[in-house]
Amino acid sequence: MKDKYKYIGPLYDFLSSIYGGESIHNCKRAMLTSENVKAGDKILIAGAGHGKDAIRAAELGADVTVVDLSETMLIKLQQAFDKHPKDLKVNVVHADILKVEEYEHYDMVIANFFLNVFDADFMETILNHLIKCTKKGGKFVIGDFAFPSGNPVSKTIQKGYWYTAALIFYFTSDNAIHEIYNYTELMKSKGIEIDDTKHYRYLGMNCYTSVMGTKLVASDLATTSSTKKTEEATA
Ligand SMILES: C[S@@+](CC[C@H](N)C(=O)[O-])C[C@H]1O[C@@H](n2cnc3c(N)ncnc32)[C@H](O)[C@@H]1O
Repeated sequence: MKDKYKYIGPLYDFLSSIYGGESIHNCKRAMLTSENVKAGDKILIAGAGHGKDAIRAAELGADVTVVDLSETMLIKLQQAFDKHPKDLKVNVVHADILKVEEYEHYDMVIANFFLNVFDADFMETILNHLIKCTKKGGKFVIGDFAFPSGNPVSKTIQKGYWYTAALIFYFTSDNAIHEIYNYTELMKSKGIEIDDTKHYRYLGMNCYTSVMGTKLVASDLATTSSTKKTEEATA
């Protein structure tokens, strides 16, 4: 499995600090409060990177599963966990998130700065998959670049800020280049009721947003099992 973050991975959180100050890190942890997370809650963090959010979730007593394709990122995450008290619970999975087929299983699923890695079609496939992994009544959280708002000048600057980051990751990690996704509208369109939105400013702009919602209806898993059966039959 190719590690697309082999070279930039070790520097990822350091570069985030340069690019967004503390606002990126704060955005990742925005919804991880004692009101939203109870001890023993099962939390899935997709594309966890260095795991700042995973550490906060574990500190709140959650039973955390992190999934990432990049070994480099997971080594950095493990080093970060090693600096914390050893009783933090984290299950580290080195895999493609689509291979995690624990449907209707998690009290909270978090996708921080993760969905923006993919082009629009594949992003939607991953989003549907992550929503399936969330329990009915569970929380779904996305923290990422803010959807542009304000006057045309402000929107243009926000877009320029995103495309600069997108180009860096296109050349270093082969990430997709696309318009900024409107995660709030995407979540609503998938039956997630929005509970809370927090904005993070940097350089006088609204740069990052964390959105949390509740999954109101259980996923229809019939498609999944029939797809699986078809795959098994053709294997
Ligand atoms: C832009 S980084 C974000 C890391 C972290 N969530 C953060 O906020 O700092 C995207 C991460 O997603 C991981 N990733 C990309 N595609 C993946 C996939 N299909 N399954 C699991 N992880 C994936 C990458 O290895 C990388 O660590």
